[in-house]
Amino acid sequence: MSFTFNQDDLNKIKELKTRYPSPDALCLPCLWMAQTKEGYISIDAIDAISEQIGLAPMQIYGVVTFYTMFHLQKPDRLQVDVCKTLSCKLCGSDEILKHLKSKDVYVNHVECLGSCGTAPMMQIKDKNYENLTNEKVDAILEELL
Ligand code: FES
Repeated sequence: MSFTFNQDDLNKIKELKTRYPSPDALCLPCLWMAQTKEGYISIDAIDAISEQIGLAPMQIYGVVTFYTMFHLQKPDRLQVDVCKTLSCKLCGSDEILKHLKSKDVYVNHVECLGSCGTAPMMQIKDKNYENLTNEKVDAILEELL
């Protein structure tokens, strides 16, 4: 299996280089592009990003393993990112997490996703689901699964 950026991707990276002049900063949007294409970050994708931005593959790997939103393996189930930070925790994220563990989904505990005013919340495929209750979670999953 190999990963390649197509011409549109390369044009996008070229445009990103004007806004993110350092390879460290450019690494994050390139990782998002790769994960959006394949659903995860493969070693081939890391090599392709390295080639494009000039950062060593090991440095890119370090970024991937630091952030909970990047995945080194293709998820075999629907991935649900549940915020575990203070506002969500105070508003019941533990109960939501407990409820989700009984479902056929991959639950990922993540730090604040910037939607604290509508806690508790979760994110699925970049979409926020807010003011959660167990009943609301069931309705969301029924629609997505
Ligand atoms: S604390 Fe959960 S979104 Fe900020």
